[in-house]
Amino acid sequence: MAQKFTVKSFQEAKDNNRKISMLTAYDYSMAKMVDTAGTDAILIGDSLGMVFQGHESTLPVTIDEMIYHTKAVVRGVKRALIITDMPFLSYHVSKEEAIRNAGRLVKEGGAEAVKIEGGTNFAETIKAIVDAQIPVMGHIGLTPQSVNAFGGFKVQGKDEESAKRILEDAKALEKAGVFAITLECVPDKLAKLITESVNIPTIGIGAGNSCDGQVLVINDMLGMFSDFVPKFVKQYAKLNIEITTAIQNYISEVKESKFPSTEHTFGMDSEILEKLY
Ligand code: KIV
Repeated sequence: MAQKFTVKSFQEAKDNNRKISMLTAYDYSMAKMVDTAGTDAILIGDSLGMVFQGHESTLPVTIDEMIYHTKAVVRGVKRALIITDMPFLSYHVSKEEAIRNAGRLVKEGGAEAVKIEGGTNFAETIKAIVDAQIPVMGHIGLTPQSVNAFGGFKVQGKDEESAKRILEDAKALEKAGVFAITLECVPDKLAKLITESVNIPTIGIGAGNSCDGQVLVINDMLGMFSDFVPKFVKQYAKLNIEITTAIQNYISEVKESKFPSTEHTFGMDSEILEKLY
């Protein structure tokens, strides 16, 4: 088996100019495929609130739901680093509550690191979690838990003020001790500047090609989630169509009594059967 990917491997990858691949997963079967394919890190993202639960945002997701999904993913993973999102309101109230919730994701869920949305505003909380020996990945730019404050899912850092703020956020996160930073929906030139300005790896989603690694939501990149397709998503498959076609074929075969055929049916000794009549 290939060597386990750890938070140290993140830094080694950046130091040696090797790109980091990361994908989300929310259940055992998908996690096993994502891991077997060789992905470096698996994120149990709170995006599960949208692509798995069908909510319009990630805000309703709870810490108990994140633990539930983390447990399922952990059982399918041998090599990838397992990172779990801290959901909305699980780290906002106090440092103590943030440490306890991060600890639950590790202790009960089996996560190896947690991800937190926010920059300078959450730096102290993040430092407290890191001091509790729980590795933290930062997340700045478009932070979906701030959807109401942003007034929608919009690209961030296009004007001077917000670009400066995001750059400062990245530096504050590095100082707070995060092992990597997710950069979501920022212009590629800003992502490049941030990547060159910090020593820790940056993982981009909608942040261009200069980041130290990339992350996508698995349902998006497999073409399973069809409610909307963001500009930054490349669909490497169209499973939405394949799955629907497979289900239609199943329905037709059931209606036409073609399924199950003898191949999928258990036989019985005819002498035993006769005794039943
Ligand atoms: O929740 C999630 O899946 C994420 C990724 C989009 C980075 O935070």
